[in-house]
Amino acid sequence: MAKEYSPFTPGVPVPIEFFVGRENETTEIVTKVAKSVAKKTLERVFITGERGIGKSSLCRMAVRIAEEKHAVIGLHVFLGGVTSLEEMVRRIFEHLLQESRDRNWFDGVKRFLGNHIKEVGLFGVSLAFDAPQRDLSQAVSDFGPSLRKLLSSIGPQRKGLLIVLDDLNGLATSAAFANWLKSLVDEIATGRELLPLTLVLAGLPERRRQLLETQPSLDRVFDLISIRPFDEAQTKQFFQQAFNKVNMRITPEALNVLWQFSGGYPVFLHEIGDAAFKADSDGAVEKNDALSGVISAAKVIGAKYIEPKVLDAIWSTRYRGILRKIFPIEPPHEFTHFTKAELIKRLSSEEAKVLDNFLQKMKRLGVIHQSAEMGKGHYQFTSALYALFFLLQAAPQKAAANA
Ligand SMILES: Nc1ncnc2c1ncn2[C@@H]1O[C@H](COP(=O)(O)OP(=O)(O)OP(=O)(O)O)[C@@H](O)[C@H]1O
Ligand SMILES: [Mg+2]
Repeated sequence: MAKEYSPFTPGVPVPIEFFVGRENETTEIVTKVAKSVAKKTLERVFITGERGIGKSSLCRMAVRIAEEKHAVIGLHVFLGGVTSLEEMVRRIFEHLLQESRDRNWFDGVKRFLGNHIKEVGLFGVSLAFDAPQRDLSQAVSDFGPSLRKLLSSIGPQRKGLLIVLDDLNGLATSAAFANWLKSLVDEIATGRELLPLTLVLAGLPERRRQLLETQPSLDRVFDLISIRPFDEAQTKQFFQQAFNKVNMRITPEALNVLWQFSGGYPVFLHEIGDAAFKADSDGAVEKNDALSGVISAAKVIGAKYIEPKVLDAIWSTRYRGILRKIFPIEPPHEFTHFTKAELIKRLSSEEAKVLDNFLQKMKRLGVIHQSAEMGKGHYQFTSALYALFFLLQAAPQKAAANA
């Protein structure tokens, strides 16, 4: 029987059927949408978490459920690279157009967007949103009123809006964006007309910090959802489900390896799962397949997620020796920190000699920092991505020990 396609999707938001966990977070967002629709209020939430932790996937799931359960129009808009409010609004309306095409409220959207819809493509089969800068600026300042107009143009078929502004990057540092958000919230709160809108912002913790630096009162305005890695049960459930979908089995030992080396970190789950899928040849993922998967995933993860300056810095043999030993061979699932005293016990004398230099260098590169509250000799990784990447370096030893 030919092997099926990999059920894993490294790097892109997960398809709904492979989505696991996040019940509380999804419920929190969907409950806000329900309230917004029932009371015609503006509900606000900020979703944050490390790179690859599952912010976009959570938003996608919440949009899907909210559309079905509460008859809203859900718009999940990616703002990577966007630095102006006009471009943001353009993307929102463009998305509205594309998302509504095959829906029964499309006529209302067409009436609302009016002559800003253009037929494009060789046979005019695609539609594009096209508006001059002047109209976009107007839409920025009249954002609330335009959304009200959109909803009244659609009529009773859709009862509210859920707008997700994902990948805030460029806009997070923009004072114009922070002020626009604040005015939008104030305007809707004090406006005589109601607007059933749920606004979800999604971005890295530092984006949220940047935004709040510009406009501190936004802190009170947005409820915060911080996403955490999966726990052991959820991680194993994810792998079981994914392999079962393609008629493959996975042994409990292999599941343990995948859990230990992924740390429940979603982006790693997919990279490592994909590599284990490729490593297997008989339809049953065993411990050895899992370990060779982890070893090849370490390379991919290094190339995709770790900055070249960090990879360059760890090139020397002694440094590699050290970082393989940062975590004990059976990792305790304490990925975030380590102590110098424990680490030095695991090093050879050659490695021990360069340990201070190694730690200094990693500090300079922003990979680790010293944690003041834990005391001297305690180091913390600035991101779980680094910690897990270092942990993965130990995989070949583990495989050899296992053989
Ligand atoms: N609940 C989930 N179930 C299964 N896989 C998930 C889940 N959440 C995220 N993933 C997977 O993890 C990876 C990262 O997810 P996603 O792109 O949603 O993260 P993100 O936090 O938006 O990342 P970024 O910070 O890069 O925008 C993807 O491969 C995705 O398929
Ligand atoms: Mg994302």
